[in-house]
Amino acid sequence: MAILVTGGAGYIGSHTCVELLNAGHEIVVLDNFINSNPESLNRISEITGCMFKTYSIDLLDKEKVDQVFEENDIEAVIHFAGLKAVGESLSIPLHYYHNNITGTVVLCEVMKRHNVKKLVFSSSATVYGIPKQCPISEEFPLSALNPYGRTKLMIEEILRDLYVSDNAWSIALLRYFNPIGAHKSGLIGEDPNGIPNNLMPYITQVAVGKLKELSVFGNQYPTKDGTGIRDYIHVVDLAVGHLRALDKVSNSTGIDAFNLGTGKGYSVLEMVEAFEKASLKKVHYKIVDERHGDAAVSYADPLKAKQELGWVAEKSIEEMCEDSWKWQMKNPNGYKNRIVDEENLHKVNSGDFFILN
Ligand code: NAD
Ligand code: UD1
Repeated sequence: MAILVTGGAGYIGSHTCVELLNAGHEIVVLDNFINSNPESLNRISEITGCMFKTYSIDLLDKEKVDQVFEENDIEAVIHFAGLKAVGESLSIPLHYYHNNITGTVVLCEVMKRHNVKKLVFSSSATVYGIPKQCPISEEFPLSALNPYGRTKLMIEEILRDLYVSDNAWSIALLRYFNPIGAHKSGLIGEDPNGIPNNLMPYITQVAVGKLKELSVFGNQYPTKDGTGIRDYIHVVDLAVGHLRALDKVSNSTGIDAFNLGTGKGYSVLEMVEAFEKASLKKVHYKIVDERHGDAAVSYADPLKAKQELGWVAEKSIEEMCEDSWKWQMKNPNGYKNRIVDEENLHKVNSGDFFILN
């Protein structure tokens, strides 16, 4: 029996694959590499010493997704595959709706056909819109500020309708706060395309000298130092949360949402300071206008995940910064331009890595 991981080559997916393999699960990865690099899969193998099947296919291609279920004994799905850039979603909303929503519908149709009804879905704290207060609990009102956020909100609703139509489904909606950090090996991490939109990858690229300075989006928020506050969570803690959610969906039916955050908030300037300490590098910054659509403060109430999943985020902000820095230093260009050793070259070239088209 295997766990299908859609989007398994991406940032959170790759870390979750490592935790799944370390816990003894068999996995099958499905990814079209639209926002990732197959090299991440080699690295997963390097870390875990495990091989696994990967299908290089698009979730929108129903026939091929169906083939994955035909060829493997899938017991549950962890569904990361989706596009996630807020700015891009404003320019190409139809593409976002099609990729994220239709992709999920196709996946669920195929799951249903194969009687696989256990699903862990990557939602986001973005479904809370601009929260009226913090900490944010799962019962807070939901709203969306952009097409990306609306895809998450709509998918949550689609999955609720699916459960209402058939109570045999078991679905966990995981609302992530702000994942940062990387695996402690420095072999896998976040590899954004072009100039990063999110804070931590921007900071690390300033520290490594790829970008000149950080633009801090506003210093007049009603917070301790005027800059925005977020709940940063180590990506490995987040990955472990998926294993706990998998246990939950494996042992029950129903649909439920869970915040995955630490419950602590840090400001942009606190993050700069923490990162400088961890990296011993200066992070130059300037204050600029607020970014449209940004909340002043966002942090989770993580109690429900503790009570119902038995999961708590454990890693400190120091560890998050150290691990982000290690990844950045070891991989200044992300997965591109890796100085590959012969063994890995062999893997990529000979096709014995199980990339199936
Ligand atoms: P990512 O872009 O690194 O990973 C997503 C993966 O999905 C990529 O490997 C991409 O190639 C793949 N993919 C996209 N569309 C696909 C398709 N049609 N068919 C097959 N593969 C496809 O993103 P991530 O940061 O790892 O995020 C994973 C999930 O978590 C996403 O759904 C994202 O919206 C959600 N999320 C991320 C964050 C964050 O800050 N990173 C926060 C909240 C929610
Ligand atoms: C952003 C997305 C959100 C998504 C989340 C995780 C927007 C409006 N929101 O949220 O939908 O779910 O990422 O992918 O894009 N900051 C700077 N300078 C920068 C970058 C960020 O000052 O160059 C500040 C922001 O104003 C914010 C904090 O740093 O206060 C964190 O920003 P970011 O990493 O983009 O995450 P979110 O704003 O939480």
